[in-house]
Amino acid sequence: MNQKPLLVTAALPYANGPIHLGHLVEYTQADIFTRFQKMRGREAYYFCADDTHGAPIMIRAKNEGVAPEAVIARYHQEHQRDFNDFNIAFDHYYSTNSPENRALAEEIYGKLKTGGHIHRRPVEQAYCEHDRMFLPDRFVRGVCPRCGADDQYGDVCESCGAHYSPTELKNPRCSLCGAPPARKSSEHLFFRVADYLDTLKTFMDGPALQPEVKNFLATWLKEGLRDWDISRDGPYFGFSIPGEQDKYFYVWLDAPVGYLATMLNKFGAERFDALLRRGEGVLRHFIGKDIVYFHTLFWIPMLAGAGFTLPSTIQVHGFLTVNGEKMSKSKGTFINARTYLNHLGPEYLRYYYASKLKSGVDDLDLNFQDFVFRVNAELVNKVANLGSRTIGMLNKIPALANTLSASHILSEGREEAGLLTKVMAEAESIAADYDNLDFALALQKIMRLADLANEYIDSAKPWACKEDTERQRDILTAGINAFMLIAKYLKPVVPAFAEKVERILKIAPLKWDSYKDDILCNHTIGQFERLADRIDIALTEKIVEETQKAAEAAKKPETPAAPGAPLIEYDDFAKLDLRTAKVTAAERLPKADKLLKLTIDVGGETRTLVAGIAKHYTAEEMVGKTIIIVANLKPRALMGVTSQGMALAVNDGGTLVLLAPEKEMLSGLKVS
Ligand code: MSP
Ligand code: ZN
Repeated sequence: MNQKPLLVTAALPYANGPIHLGHLVEYTQADIFTRFQKMRGREAYYFCADDTHGAPIMIRAKNEGVAPEAVIARYHQEHQRDFNDFNIAFDHYYSTNSPENRALAEEIYGKLKTGGHIHRRPVEQAYCEHDRMFLPDRFVRGVCPRCGADDQYGDVCESCGAHYSPTELKNPRCSLCGAPPARKSSEHLFFRVADYLDTLKTFMDGPALQPEVKNFLATWLKEGLRDWDISRDGPYFGFSIPGEQDKYFYVWLDAPVGYLATMLNKFGAERFDALLRRGEGVLRHFIGKDIVYFHTLFWIPMLAGAGFTLPSTIQVHGFLTVNGEKMSKSKGTFINARTYLNHLGPEYLRYYYASKLKSGVDDLDLNFQDFVFRVNAELVNKVANLGSRTIGMLNKIPALANTLSASHILSEGREEAGLLTKVMAEAESIAADYDNLDFALALQKIMRLADLANEYIDSAKPWACKEDTERQRDILTAGINAFMLIAKYLKPVVPAFAEKVERILKIAPLKWDSYKDDILCNHTIGQFERLADRIDIALTEKIVEETQKAAEAAKKPETPAAPGAPLIEYDDFAKLDLRTAKVTAAERLPKADKLLKLTIDVGGETRTLVAGIAKHYTAEEMVGKTIIIVANLKPRALMGVTSQGMALAVNDGGTLVLLAPEKEMLSGLKVS
């Protein structure tokens, strides 16, 4: 049984958004698996971290006017709180923005470079002159070349589903500032993954991948391996590449290295080296089907190239749908972990996910009706009810003094022994299901045992033999022990439920290594506490409502600031020629009490301008001011004077305040 320590990882969530119910499929799956291994007495660790680098996080921080570090610190807190409240028990939760991750990323890159696997060549990319940065595909928006839908991403149209390159997009715009991007070339670094074709083939043929995933990989290998672009030009939030000017590791290079960095931070260098460089640990990744490409084609060569232990398995799961459809913000089904927790307990969802999780890559559906039905029918009516009717009854009969029968109930031929033997006999087969990641099957078996125990109580009728309290004690002892074993089998899925059972029964934490010895005899238990309440479908409706409301509120900033003002295109804005202008002379226009006639200098050109500001500014105080004007407004006659432009002012409840540059400036400068 001398098994190697198990190192389990789940994919690292991006540090620029909250944990949602889709994420939780994976974090729950890997959590159940690791908890099960620990219950079996295996040395096992569950690792995760925030994935902190990349353009979206940098841009998000810029928009909020804070440092990227502030954004990732906030999500680090928030993610950990959400995981904790869902009983996801990481042994360590770290960050890719860490010294260990930088050192390991540099080490891996250095070894690949020394080995001759890194090459450089120019790449042409969209570049925003205004924001002075290269724009990732997602940050170029424009008209879909296929269906003509406006405001689509640079790589995919959400309206017709077409895939294309940002160069094909019509009327492309920078999604940050709206300016049309330029094309600009720069030198990028590439990892020649094809050098590791043999490693990948061996890995594919080994036991690490599910059959479906092998098929994906085989197809990609057949299509031929292209070099992987691992560098990004600054500004970029990430690790700068040693020996390069203003180049950074692409986020997907250092993200999986974060698995190792988290372990290094936990174990220290010595143990880390033993486990991960000398093959003394067993590495098992859990990921979603959308990131298989990165974890096979790129990650395996990186590990191999730098001499690290390859993963024993990469376990891939499918995507969560809600009520049969893709999660959707507007439908209120893109549900955050926190929103769910505001209304329902975590273990209902853990139970439901487990009841649907198998070892394959199929998507799984959270159907609210089915969710409520199954949780109520199984966890509440079968399991919790078994505990409540048996423990509750033992508590209520004073003569029994909360004490279980002696071991005579286990002698051969007795019906109590018959029941408990059946429940114990399933232990190994249920364990195998957990080990094989077929949680659905494990739960089916456990529910059958709960049925069996309930049927036993129904037929033995402890309430019908009031005059024979020792007979009552025997029946209840069998029922309570069956319940205890069922709680043990369920513990990886619903750990808090099982801990409550341990408390009620006054027993040590349930483990999976012994069976018969576990049977409680001559043991005094505590008072029953409510284990699980039935849930009402109305609660899921509230969750959807709250999600929808939050989505509405988040949309608001996109609507025009002035109610009724329609959104304009950048081109509309670009038509305005706004300039600084210096007032050289000013006078009141006779017979017009609102108007001042201004003589202005616009970069050496003298113009006349009529402005309706006489009630707010005197002619004298205007002279010498630098203001902002619309310089290309068609000339217009006002009270017999031709105005060549318009002065800009803010109307603050009837008081006009002229716009002016915030520093002393030359006249004639363009405002943009
Ligand atoms: N940051 C990367 C992973 C880097 S790992 C070195 C990433 N992050 S993510 O936040 O988008 O996703 C984290 C995990 O959650 C991924 O494995 C992803 O497949 C999974 N899921 C995200 N949405 C999901 C669903 N709707 N359903 C099931 N799993 C989903 O990818
Ligand atoms: Zn821009």
